[in-house]
Amino acid sequence: MISLIPNAIHFLLTTFILNSPQPPEPSPSQLGLQFQLRHVHGVSNDSRILFSDIPPQSLTPSQLDQYTYTVKTRTIHTHRPSSFSAFTQARSRSRSVSSSPSELWSPPIPVPGPNTSDRETLLTLAKMTNNAYYSDPSSSNWYDLGPDWNVSYTYGWEPDSDGFRGHVFVSQDTKTVVLSIKGTSVPWIGGGPTMKKDKLNDNLLFSCCCARVGPTWSTVCGCYGGGGKCDEGCVEKALAEDSLFYPIGTNLYNNLSYMYPESNIWVIGHSLGGSLASLIGQTFGTPVVAFEAPAEKMASRRLHLPSAPSSDHITHVFNTADPIPMGTCTGVTSTCANAGYAMESRCHVGKLIRYDTVGKKGWSSNVRNHPIDVVINNLLNEDWEKEDLDKGVEGLGRGVPEPVDEEEDCDAQECMTWTYENETV
Ligand SMILES: *[C@@H]1O[C@H](CO)[C@@H](O)[C@H](O)[C@H]1NC(C)=O
Ligand SMILES: *[C@@H]1O[C@H](CO)[C@@H](O)[C@H](O)[C@H]1NC(C)=O
Ligand SMILES: *[C@@H]1O[C@H](CO)[C@@H](O)[C@H](O)[C@H]1NC(C)=O
Ligand SMILES: *[C@@H]1O[C@H](CO)[C@@H](O)[C@H](O)[C@H]1NC(C)=O
Repeated sequence: MISLIPNAIHFLLTTFILNSPQPPEPSPSQLGLQFQLRHVHGVSNDSRILFSDIPPQSLTPSQLDQYTYTVKTRTIHTHRPSSFSAFTQARSRSRSVSSSPSELWSPPIPVPGPNTSDRETLLTLAKMTNNAYYSDPSSSNWYDLGPDWNVSYTYGWEPDSDGFRGHVFVSQDTKTVVLSIKGTSVPWIGGGPTMKKDKLNDNLLFSCCCARVGPTWSTVCGCYGGGGKCDEGCVEKALAEDSLFYPIGTNLYNNLSYMYPESNIWVIGHSLGGSLASLIGQTFGTPVVAFEAPAEKMASRRLHLPSAPSSDHITHVFNTADPIPMGTCTGVTSTCANAGYAMESRCHVGKLIRYDTVGKKGWSSNVRNHPIDVVINNLLNEDWEKEDLDKGVEGLGRGVPEPVDEEEDCDAQECMTWTYENETV
């Protein structure tokens, strides 16, 4: 796909639009939302964002069919910050006082979110996070921003947006907007131009101390104090200054909510994209589904994101044979370390839908179980506990594992071998 993008474009977003009739108002949970390709968005190399419409009649019926997605909704309750600037203020205040003012958050607000107990809905969201990889050559011109696609909006973006990619899906009634963020481009899944920046962000966000895995590692920040000691204040400062993706994400969200002020925005993503989706969801109180995402609780703490009274609006979906969300792709001899990644964090924010592929399917832990196509083709392709479901006994078997909370002793097990001190305040 990358080669299809003109030089001047290095950030690509696609917008899909709802194709279903008006939902029956009182029963949003039964509603099936359908999405199809409608706009292409991108950011030019001089940091302007570009939006272009694709006329629906330019798509063949089979293209329409292939790119039509259905999701079911359920009502979820979420707390929203009184404003983004109030959130940002609370964030900078909490650099000195570590508390989140209770008046920052609204009382719980009911909003339609994705029904994460519905396998087809998860499957659809997983496909949305990965639509581009599944494009066949005949659909490739959707991404070719040739002379037909002229700029219709321009507004400012960080010059470093070349690592942050995604799709935006919008329902026809514009009530639901789904922001889907792509994950890390890693060497074992094809690489790509965003690899370098992705890696820097991964190592900043998910390593215990600046990705100092071993003495020979070149670190991403200078906070290692020798003898297993790490300067926590220094790591936080590095994250605030160099972690470019979080501010790009909040910027994108702000711009989307400006464009669709009356809409519910959902944020979804795979891998690094899933972690970023969660950080954005924690910031705006918006529903999130993250697939196979490295654990982001440590990053969220280091970024001083004020925490809402509940984070149940965030759902992580991953399998136990993927060492990246499990936080087990660690140590100098691991695949991650060999590729230069320090994916050491273990604790997630929100609810976990954990597919025990190790225990129930005999998979062994391997980064090959990380890509989104494993989720699509091997995890969500059929009901979980299908054999039990087939018996038809009430209460036996589930199509999707039950959402659970992160383990209580998780924090204590994260980065256990490190001692954190606070020298830089
Ligand atoms: C970026 O834009 C400038 C001028 O618009 C152009 O000269 C340059 O080749 C572009 N760079 C890339 C990588 O497309
Ligand atoms: C969510 O989906 C599941 C599975 O399809 C269904 O059993 C459940 O009733 C749905 N929940 C709501 C609130 O609609
Ligand atoms: C885009 O701009 C070019 C050059 O200004 C023009 O020839 C073309 O017709 C425009 N295309 C659309 C779809 O407006
Ligand atoms: C997009 O985000 C930037 C940074 O937050 C902001 O300056 C700009 O006004 C936003 N544009 C829109 C249309 O919301």
